[in-house]
Amino acid sequence: MIYRGFFTALFVLFCLAPESRGMSALAQQPTVLVTGSNRGIGLEFVRQYAAKGWNVIATTRRPNQAKALQSLARSDSNITVELLDVTSGEHLATLVEKYRGQPIDVLINNAGVSGDFQGPGQSLGTLDYTTVDTFMSVNAIGPLRVTEAFYENVRLGDQKKVIAITALLGVHSFGYGGFSGAYWYKVSKAAMNAAVYNLAQDAKKDGITVALLTPGEVAVEKVIDPGPNFITPEVSIRGMIDVIEHLAAEDAGTIIRYNGKRYQF
Ligand SMILES: NC(=O)c1ccc[n+]([C@@H]2O[C@H](COP(=O)([O-])OP(=O)(O)OC[C@H]3O[C@@H](n4cnc5c(N)ncnc54)[C@H](OP(=O)(O)O)[C@@H]3O)[C@@H](O)[C@H]2O)c1
Repeated sequence: MIYRGFFTALFVLFCLAPESRGMSALAQQPTVLVTGSNRGIGLEFVRQYAAKGWNVIATTRRPNQAKALQSLARSDSNITVELLDVTSGEHLATLVEKYRGQPIDVLINNAGVSGDFQGPGQSLGTLDYTTVDTFMSVNAIGPLRVTEAFYENVRLGDQKKVIAITALLGVHSFGYGGFSGAYWYKVSKAAMNAAVYNLAQDAKKDGITVALLTPGEVAVEKVIDPGPNFITPEVSIRGMIDVIEHLAAEDAGTIIRYNGKRYQF
């Protein structure tokens, strides 16, 4: 009798919801970390991953001013908003300490600066050398720095994927966009491609797949008059999430467009 009671109790305990056994149901969902997630492509990544039921660590350098992101986080408890300027060692150290031991399945290095492509600061003859350091530290070094900081979290994840959002303007085989100007953007994205390619080779030994994704020409909030080639953030990010989902070990170090098309460096 006592014997039967014991097994009934064990069965009931097992059938209880995970939360009531002291485990978080959310902890069983995959986790994605997105940089620069307060607007544009980053915000849409947060929206779509949260809608899929993922845990989302949505980082931004200005959490208090991130109205759209904060409102999304209020309506979905899977989203956690965190402070991160990708050039700040201090911000990274704080987050690394907070998330120590927590697996991150997908790390998306999205934060980037573009400036005015055709403006004088990025055009030959009037190049503004005071701004180049920001382009390099955010676009080229930022993804490396963030990935190095969260490397152990990604290693602990089931999916083990690191993404860096590049641009075809930084890709030699694409002719760097075929138009003049955008010097700092092109130079910093080309440098990022080199850094991420290297990272991809090193990360293979830990079973981590690192890839570069290009989002297409995306009509984010700041684009005032999108041309006919532009696509919506919804379409671009849906495509990139699909690419990430199907990413295989042999994709390490490659450049893949939102629609699955592959590019050479
Ligand atoms: N849109 C396109 O057509 C397109 C095409 C190719 C590639 N991309 C790439 O896609 C990524 C996102 O672009 P987007 O179009 O969404 O641009 P966006 O609307 O200008 O957003 C850029 C994001 O990066 C953040 N950011 C800038 N500097 C940062 C720093 N130091 N630390 C942390 N976050 C920082 C911005 O935060 P703040 O709001 O605080 O400035 C913002 O959240 C970029 O890497 C961009 O180069 C975009």
